[in-house]
Amino acid sequence: MLLEVRDLHVEFRTRDGAAHAVNGVTYAVDAGETLAVLGESGSGKSVTAQAVMGILDTPPGRVTGGEIRFRDQDLLTLKEEEHRRIRGAGMAMIFQDALSALNPVLTVGDQLGEMFRVHRGTSRKDSRAKAIELMDRVRIPAAAQRVGDYPHQFSGGMRQRIMIAMALALEPDLIIADEPTTALDVTVQAQVMDLLAELRREYDMGLILITHDLGVVADVADKIAVMYAGRIVETAPVHELFKRPAHPYTKGLLESIPRLDHKGRELYAIKGLPPSLQAIPPGCAFNPRCPMARDVCRTDVPPLYEVSGERGSACHFWRECLDG
Ligand SMILES: Nc1ncnc2c1ncn2[C@@H]1O[C@H](COP(=O)(O)OP(=O)(O)O)[C@@H](O)[C@H]1O
Ligand SMILES: [Mg+2]
Repeated sequence: MLLEVRDLHVEFRTRDGAAHAVNGVTYAVDAGETLAVLGESGSGKSVTAQAVMGILDTPPGRVTGGEIRFRDQDLLTLKEEEHRRIRGAGMAMIFQDALSALNPVLTVGDQLGEMFRVHRGTSRKDSRAKAIELMDRVRIPAAAQRVGDYPHQFSGGMRQRIMIAMALALEPDLIIADEPTTALDVTVQAQVMDLLAELRREYDMGLILITHDLGVVADVADKIAVMYAGRIVETAPVHELFKRPAHPYTKGLLESIPRLDHKGRELYAIKGLPPSLQAIPPGCAFNPRCPMARDVCRTDVPPLYEVSGERGSACHFWRECLDG
C-alpha cells in the first residue's frame, strides 16, 4: 500500500477547549488508485491531509494518536527535515486557491523551475526548459511565451493548471488535491478535473481527491471515504456507494445532488448543521440530524461495520440503510 492512515486523531487547542477535528480516520490509497474524500465543510478532510503532508498548523493543531504510513515509513516519527524530503518528491498537494498558494512576486517559470533547482540541482537554463515542458503537459497554451508571466496574469483555470504542474514537477507517487476545482467556473472545473484524472493515469500516481461535491467524484474516483465530524462514516467502491449507500448521511448527500428532473426541490436534503467539534454529541455524531436515529444511536458510537470486503459503514442500522 502506498499510503495508509490508521486511526488518526488531530486536536486543535482553542479558547473554548479542544476542537476534535479528526477522530480516528483510517484510509488507504494504492499506486494508480483514486480515493475521493467527501464531506461537508469542517468535517476534517483538509486537516487529515495536512497531517499526511506534515503541514499541520502546530500549534494549535496536534496529532494525538494514530499512524500515517507512506511506503511503509511511519511519517509521524520523521524529523521535519525528512518529512520535507518526502514532500515534493514523494507526495505533493494541490490547493483550492492557486492565487494564495503561488508566490505573487515570482514568475511561474521561476516557481516551477525552482522545484528542479532546489530538489534536483538542475541549472537555471535547464530548469526553465523543464518549466516550459511542464506547462505544456498541463496544456497551458503558448507555454514558452508565458513562462515569464506572473500568477495574476493567468485565469483561474490556468493558475490551477500551474499548481498541478508544480505538484507534478518531481513526479511524486501520491498527489493530494484539496478541493482543486471549487474556486472555478463549472465548465473550467470539468476541464481541470479531466486533466488531473488523465495525468494521474499517465504518471500512475495515487490520488486523494478531497471534495464536498459528490458530482465530481463519480467519473474520477475508484473509491470514496465519506467523512462526518472527523470520522469516516462510510467507505465503498464508488459505484456501489452511488447505487446503494450504507449510511444515512451518504444517502442524504446523494439526495442533495441537484438534478434537472427535480427542479424546485430543496437542494440540501439533510436538515440541521454539523456539530461543534468542541462538543460532538455522544453516540453517533450524526444522530441529531439522522432520520433513522434510535436510542442506541444517542449512546453508542458506531464502529465502522464491515458491510462487505471492500465496504464499511459506521451506522448501527447499515443493513436497513442498504435496503431502504
Ligand atoms: N488552523 C486551525 N486552527 C484551529 N482550528 C482549526 C484549524 N484548521 C482546522 N481547524 C478545525 O478543524 C476543523 C476541520 O477543518 P478542515 O479539515 O479544514 O475541514 P474540511 O473538511 O472543510 O476540510 C475546522 O472546522 C476547525 O474547527
Ligand atoms: Mg477543506
